[in-house]
Amino acid sequence: MKAMKAIDHNTITDVALDQMSTTADPRLRRIMESLVRHLHDFAREVDLTPAEWIKGIEFLTAVGKKCTPARQEFILLSDTLGMSSLVNALHDRRALEAGTKTSLLGPFYRNDSPDRKLGDSITEDTRGKEIVLFGTVSNAAGEPIPNASVEIWQPDDEGVYDMQRDENRMDLRGRFHTDDKGMYYCRAVAPLGYMIPMDGPVGDMIRAQKRHGYRPAHIHFLVGAGGYREVVTALYLASDDHIDSDTVFGVTDSLITEVRDNNPKCPVRGIPSIEFNFRLAAATTADMVGRVGADPKEIVKE
Ligand code: BEZ
Ligand code: FE
Repeated sequence: MKAMKAIDHNTITDVALDQMSTTADPRLRRIMESLVRHLHDFAREVDLTPAEWIKGIEFLTAVGKKCTPARQEFILLSDTLGMSSLVNALHDRRALEAGTKTSLLGPFYRNDSPDRKLGDSITEDTRGKEIVLFGTVSNAAGEPIPNASVEIWQPDDEGVYDMQRDENRMDLRGRFHTDDKGMYYCRAVAPLGYMIPMDGPVGDMIRAQKRHGYRPAHIHFLVGAGGYREVVTALYLASDDHIDSDTVFGVTDSLITEVRDNNPKCPVRGIPSIEFNFRLAAATTADMVGRVGADPKEIVKE
């Protein structure tokens, strides 16, 4: 008979890691080893009880049940735990060159944003205060990138995204391409701060933690061009009350902007504007894509 190691609250970790050591994929092995080690350390640190662990399992089950092709509660959980922003920051740290900082993709990104022409509005039935978004896309050396793709999405004047009103509704989104000077410009609506979706288990967690649940006013961007790392980011309004306490930790100083009344550089006259210039770093084959999240219908397929 083989010698059997006594399993107790300490030896269980090595025994479990030993059994997983046959994992063929070395990266999967490293990730699972570290995950199990930290998970066991966490249970020991808080002296986790069976009732508490079952509560955790019930919570994760509820998070999974809340997911649909139009709602990604797991991404919301990752966002509200600071995990999405941490993974974004690690992604930025790996870049070969400095580029615009990453921010949350969030649960409301969609792949099939309509193609629009420079100067168009991203909404057909604009309510709220109209603004212009403009600037350039350049490389790390400051050279303009023509024909870069600039996807923009935002909530409406009540702080609600199209897919939250109706999963087939498409509004306040658009994909543009920069001109030969690397410039983009379009019309949008002044963003409002809003509360993250609170009608699911993540909302219960936020309430239990007495957090306010708000995101400061922002507009999302996904900017990319062949040979460059795409940038998933958002621009935040300095004037928002929650600029220093975003529920999902997406704000960083270089992404804070303001709406200006008469910016002489704005290509559209008479409308307040936000100017922001994006920088894309050169990509390696491994790091071209940097999305923490996806269109929810890519994750839950019907
Ligand atoms: C958003 O900005 O769309 C968002 C990001 C994370 C959680 C909820 C909403
Ligand atoms: Fe958002």
